Amino acid sequence: MSSPPQVVIFGASGDLTRRKLIPAFARLDADPRLPSGFSILGVSRTELNTEQFRNQLAESLKPEQRPAFDRLAPRIFYHTADTSEPGVMQALGTRLDELPGGRAAGRLFYLSLKPQLFPVVAEGLGAAGLLRRWGRGEGFRRIVVEKPFGNDLKSARTLNHELYRTLQEDQIYRIDHYLGKETVQNLLGFRFHNAIFEPLWNRHHVELVQITVAETLGVENGRGAYYDETGALRDMVQNHMLQVLALIAMEPPSTLAADAIRGQKVEVLRALRHPSGSNGDPVSVRARYAAGRVGGQSVKGYLEEADVSPRSTTETYVALRAHVENWRWSGVPFLLRHGKRLASRFTEVKVQFHTPPLQLFNKPVELDTADGPQLLFRADPCLTRPNVLTLRIQPEESIELSFGVKHPGNSMDMEPARLRFDYREHFGTQSADAYERLLADALVGDQTLFLRGDEIEASWEYADAIRASWQRAGAPPILDYPAGTWGPAEAEGLFGACQGGWSPG
Ligand code: BG6
Repeated sequence: MSSPPQVVIFGASGDLTRRKLIPAFARLDADPRLPSGFSILGVSRTELNTEQFRNQLAESLKPEQRPAFDRLAPRIFYHTADTSEPGVMQALGTRLDELPGGRAAGRLFYLSLKPQLFPVVAEGLGAAGLLRRWGRGEGFRRIVVEKPFGNDLKSARTLNHELYRTLQEDQIYRIDHYLGKETVQNLLGFRFHNAIFEPLWNRHHVELVQITVAETLGVENGRGAYYDETGALRDMVQNHMLQVLALIAMEPPSTLAADAIRGQKVEVLRALRHPSGSNGDPVSVRARYAAGRVGGQSVKGYLEEADVSPRSTTETYVALRAHVENWRWSGVPFLLRHGKRLASRFTEVKVQFHTPPLQLFNKPVELDTADGPQLLFRADPCLTRPNVLTLRIQPEESIELSFGVKHPGNSMDMEPARLRFDYREHFGTQSADAYERLLADALVGDQTLFLRGDEIEASWEYADAIRASWQRAGAPPILDYPAGTWGPAEAEGLFGACQGGWSPG
């Protein structure tokens, strides 16, 4: 019989603990697939005792979260510690030995800390022997690290090296919360369970893939300083969006084992073509929001946000034309777009299939106009794109396939129709929160939905190449867009002639 695990949250007085981690652990406590009776030790510099910590957590929860929390609360404890001080980790070890399960318990260390502290804490835990199993009866020793994992390739590599001093790769769980989303996981299921799509999933049939993560939020809630150092490319594209791209573009794994899947994703990330520097090949557009209106409310421009430098050149919008240079995808553009303070919030992947080689239908007709008879198209053949597969990730979770049908009547006119599947309608439930899934996996030791060290490095390599292209002489300047719009018109220029345009959402 193994002992119930212990979860140690570093940075426990932070917002993530209250908002995401505790509600997720409280729900997982009742999950029969997980080890039952786990306890949680919150660690932070804030002077609190266990009772005060429990009360603070309780007060921050929504009423519907309370029953699950109340069942878990007796197994939540608190430990005040400044992890950079000597001797602190030994004391923490003693405290853990005294908690339910003691030394035999599996231990999950969750680092909800500033990234500079990841190696400090990992090293401290290692030096105190807390990452090693001493006896046969002892449970696992794992750490979970939050994003951002570095801010460029160099820092991510250094961080990996520092963690590898005390940990093996199979003990490190690097979070990307997008992978915890049900619909993101379904990208794998959809592709590799439905054999009808696989023969079409390549450059012979796919004209273009577009991925959008549009947000209406700005950089409120005290995030100005972090965001101004980071920007849209590093905050969203390097991690979440490249993960979605990798799941869309990867080769089939031979099994569902974590390393089979992660290995295929790394191959895609490594195949991303770096911008060449020639100005004739538009690969990116970056911009920042100016004052405008979102959801009927007036909002400030980015440069007026708290803790943002008035001379900032940080982008809040980025659109890229990426290319996966491999056998399957050569020549197929992957258009990525992300921005804050856009017109609406949605995340979506659109796979556009080639238009038919011959325009048989919707022929031009002679119409009488004020200027006399003219040959006009009823529908622009460039915009008529019958077959598009839309994988909607949020807020609605759905899959839609469009196709053309004949309009009733004497003429052979085709018009768009669609097949649609909606998760909520079909299953009658709401998908679980991403953190819940990820924490459950970390507790049972499944790394599939966590990033491997080489995967993160490959994504940074691409993001760094894009950033370097912005710094080259003659690089286009950062543009402005009014908050509440779809970003700069220049981003349409990333589509080739007759390749359509950005999804209207
Ligand atoms: C985070 C970014 O990783 O993801 C935020 O730091 C962003 O800037 C958030 O708003 C978006 O997550 P979601 O799940 O709301 O799409």
